[in-house]
Amino acid sequence: MSVRTILAIESSCDETAAAVVRADGRVVSDVVASQIDVHARYGGVVPELASRAHLRSIVPVVEEAVEGAGGWPAIDAIAVTHGPGLVGALLVGAQFAKGLAWARGLPLLGVDHLDGHLLACHLRHDDDAPIGPEYPYVALLVSGGHTALYRVDAPDDIALLGQTRDDAAGEAFDKAAKLLGLGYPGGPVIDRLAKVGDPTAFELPRPMLHRDDHDFSFSGLKTAVARAVETHEGPMDEATQADLAASLQAAIVEVLARKSVRCCMKEGVSRLVLGGGVAANRGLRARAAELCEKKGFELFVPPIRACTDNAAMIAYAGFFAEPGEVAVYSRSPSRVRGRFREDGTFIARK
Ligand code: KG4
Ligand code: ZN
Repeated sequence: MSVRTILAIESSCDETAAAVVRADGRVVSDVVASQIDVHARYGGVVPELASRAHLRSIVPVVEEAVEGAGGWPAIDAIAVTHGPGLVGALLVGAQFAKGLAWARGLPLLGVDHLDGHLLACHLRHDDDAPIGPEYPYVALLVSGGHTALYRVDAPDDIALLGQTRDDAAGEAFDKAAKLLGLGYPGGPVIDRLAKVGDPTAFELPRPMLHRDDHDFSFSGLKTAVARAVETHEGPMDEATQADLAASLQAAIVEVLARKSVRCCMKEGVSRLVLGGGVAANRGLRARAAELCEKKGFELFVPPIRACTDNAAMIAYAGFFAEPGEVAVYSRSPSRVRGRFREDGTFIARK
């Protein structure tokens, strides 16, 4: 049987999601139940609470996605995120998908969450949506857990070119927001505040910007924000907070955008794709567009709902996955073509 329509389930972190997608990337239904309210008071995701919230949401979320696609007859296979992510959270989706596949007699496909983010640019939520990029492209994956540059030659030929050595970009946004007492998740709040702040008010470093590699480092920025908060006399007023948010965002965005464009040049590829939750950032989108235009590169940024965690991207990646054992893992098995030298530089294998 040829697989034309996939139902996918995603539960790797703090979103319970299910979606039905056709092989051409057209999204038929797309349901996301966010757990932000569950975790906000703790200032970050609490793994055990995430698993329990997935258990509560998974049945209604999957039901809604299936109904939105017109029922089970429309579905040819089931895909599920099997890693990387929180193991307890992943297990809820994986076990549920296994049961469903068995009960419905459908093939089961395990999908890597990162492949989902790297292919989300091919999703089309309506018939008027633009067509995604041709291959090859360079993809900047920026999320709460990952910051990396990839070369994507085909959906099943993806090479990691470089990545963060410590914190992810999203983590830097989240930790800075926590230091400023702005709540969780930090990215959207900083994004909003940055719009009214002065990006030159605080002098923050641009880590790894001038290094001739594709790696990143964001933990120093978090320390710089902590120092700015500590050394500020008295509590920061809203305008100063906005200035610090704008300065932080400018630093992160400049490094991400400049290194991504440089990566395209080095790879001889004229298409840049952004993916992951931080790709929702307005500053990053604008700066990447500006730099790509200067170089004559095409930029592809999925709509915000396809940047943050969702199951539609898992369904699309499912079309290129091999059916087989679905076993959850917390960290990605290395897909790296190349290796890090002892001094930390990365040598890609051609
Ligand atoms: O891809 P995602 O939804 O989940 C992971 O796989 O991690 O990314 C979540 C991350 C969080 O760190 C959140 O603060 C960040 O994406 N984020 C943003 C924005 N929206 C979400 N960061 C910057 N600006 C935004 N507008
Ligand atoms: Zn993600």
